[in-house]
Parts: sequence; structure tokens; C-alpha cells
Amino acid sequence: MAGLGAAPAGSLDALARAKGLRFGSAVGAGAPLRDAKYRALLTAECGLLVAENEHKWYVLRPSADRFDFGPADRIAAFARESGLGLRGHTLLWNRDEFTPAWLKVHDFGSRPASAAEKMLVEHIKAVCARYPQIDSWDVVNETIDPATGALRDTVFVRAMGERCIDVAFYAAREAAPTARLVYNDYMSWLPRDARHRNGVLKLLEGMKARGVPVQALGVQGHIGAANDREPEPFAEHDPKAWRAFLDVATGLGLDLLITELDVHDKGLPADRAVRDRAVADHARAYLDLMLSYPQLKQVLCWGLCDRYSWLQGTSPRADKASKRPTPFDADYRPKPLREAIAAAFRAAPERTPWA
Ligand code: G3I
Repeated sequence: MAGLGAAPAGSLDALARAKGLRFGSAVGAGAPLRDAKYRALLTAECGLLVAENEHKWYVLRPSADRFDFGPADRIAAFARESGLGLRGHTLLWNRDEFTPAWLKVHDFGSRPASAAEKMLVEHIKAVCARYPQIDSWDVVNETIDPATGALRDTVFVRAMGERCIDVAFYAAREAAPTARLVYNDYMSWLPRDARHRNGVLKLLEGMKARGVPVQALGVQGHIGAANDREPEPFAEHDPKAWRAFLDVATGLGLDLLITELDVHDKGLPADRAVRDRAVADHARAYLDLMLSYPQLKQVLCWGLCDRYSWLQGTSPRADKASKRPTPFDADYRPKPLREAIAAAFRAAPERTPWA
């Protein structure tokens, strides 16, 4: 979708574009999309959007024989009307926790492998056909179990084996012939994620060896100080191990995206200025490392303003203060994180953009 999404001069997307990148954000179809101020902020800063939840099975598929495209359609329409690009998340969130209840107990009959394959392929075809404007898809999300590095045990793995991952990519290739096909996951640069990183690399290496059409790795980028028991909240991260991971992924010929950037401030001091500075500095270090890879083509935040961040409802701070994980505060005012992203784009090497 070249030509879409020319955000105003000085916007984060304009700064990104100057280096061959794109910048965007997730948005939800409920309160966030109804909020005119937030819509204005999204169009002022972004070149592309992604639906936060609305392309997930549990929203799209109220039952085995029904689709509800309503919420996703509202986001797609807003993107179109605003001249913004759209990426898709996700055709298969291969995790039972986020699978609709009916599907977890679905009877696939006497030939479960072929019945499950039929359902998966038909789902992917229907969703891709509905949203031709989507130019990159998280085909599969979070299929690696961080505890073991192996594929998670899920409805589709049980019914049709590990080949469900390949099947999803082949179906997406057929249904969205020009879209970039992405594997998306939350392995991070923390030492404790080594097993997760290795599992993701094993999956990607296997897919590449089999000729499966995976084109990019989506690095979610939920970074930060989630742990308020650490004396130094950011001390743990391991840039060297992270580079080694990215080197192998890019060595496989994959491009990179940061698909869900935010910086958890749970473990940071209450003082807002101190917290905002720490969040911004940590993000800057992360972005500088990521942007040093010319294979990195897009950066999306998981929400642009603190008012709507998913982290507000997750794992509260000990002091119960509202969190500040996104570039704009709850009243839509830019924070140091916005400047850190802008500065990282300004300092980034140029790259060949995705067409
Ligand atoms: O829609 C209902 C609403 O009707 C109800 O009143 C409310 C009460 O809790 O729940 C609402 O649904 C919630 C939904 O977000 C919309 O806000 C779900 O309970 C909640 O589980 C859901 O959480 C989302 C989560 O994925 C699970 O799907 C978060 O918004 C979303 O930010 C998060 O996104 C994930 C990515 O997809 C994958 N990577 C990690 C990332 C963060 O967890």
C-alpha cells in the first residue's frame, strides 16, 4: 500500500519515512476509536495502524459458523478514511488462553486433522479477503512456549500436529498474495528469555528450510521494568544476547518489525519526571540497537497514549499509580518517550523501505 499514510511533517511517521521506515500504533475499536482527540493524535503521528484485538479469533468468531467483522471493519474504515495503512494481528494466535471457548471444545469429528485444517484455512481466506488493504499480517502469534522453547500445546496442534503453523502461512500466502507474512512473538532481551529466543529461532529455521513463506519476524517490544522487586529495574537486559538472536533471524533472510512497543514502568519510582526519563532512556537504547539493523522496516507502538494502554489493567504498581508506558500521557500530551522515538528515528541509518 505504498503512498498511503503520509503523516504530517515532524510527525513520528514522517521522521520514520525519512529513513525508509514506517511508524504506527495499535488501536481498539471501542473507547479509543470513539475518542475524537485520540483519533486526531493517531492521524497526526502515524502512517499505519493495527487492530489491538479485533482481528483475533475470539472477536471475529463468536461461533464455528459465524463471523463478526463489525469491530475490525470500524478500524479498517477509519484507516482507509484517514489515509493510513493497516497491518493485521493475527490470523492464528496459537495459544489456548486466547482461543474462543467454543473452539477449545470443538468436535472435529472422525478426521480431526483435515477438519481442523479446513477450518483454519477457511478462516484465513475469509479474513484476508475481507481486508485487502492489510499489507502485512502476523500470520502466527506466540506459538512458542517461553518455558520450554517448544511449540505450545493448542487446539490446532492437537488436531493436526505442528504442521498447523506451515498450513497457516501457506493459506495466508494464497489469500493475501502481496502482503508481508510475519511470525510475531514476545521473546525479549532479558536473560531469562534465552529459551524463548532459541525456540523462536528453531521454529523460523525449520520454516525457512521447508520453504514456508515467512518473510519477517515481528518483535513485540513490550520492554521495561515489569518487575518491581529488582533493585535496578533495567539492569537485567542483555544487548549482546539480543544482537546474537537478531543476527540469526536476519541471517535467515527475514526482515524485522517492532510490532507492539511499550515500556512498562511498574518497577520505577513514583515521581513522574523520573519515571518518564527512565522509560525514554530505556526505549532509546532499545530502538538504537533495533534500528541498527537495516532489516527493521516498521515500528508500531501498542497504543499511543497512556489513557488506553493495556498495561493499566494488568499487574498494578505497588503504589496503584496509573502507568506511563506510551509516548503520550493520559491527556494526549507528548512525553519524553515521544522525543526518544523521534531522536532514534533521526539518528537511524537509512534503509530500503518496504514497497
Ligand atoms: O471487550 C471486553 C469488554 O466488553 C469488558 O467489559 C472488559 C472487561 O475486562 O473486557 C473486554 O475485553 C478485554 C479486551 O482486551 C478489550 O479491552 C479482554 O478482557 C482482555 O483480555 C483483552 O486484552 C487484550 C489482550 O491482548 C488479550 O487479547 C489487550 O487489550 C491487548 O492489548 C493484548 O494484546 C496482546 C497482543 O495481542 C499480543 N502480544 C501481547 C499483547 C499484550 O498482552
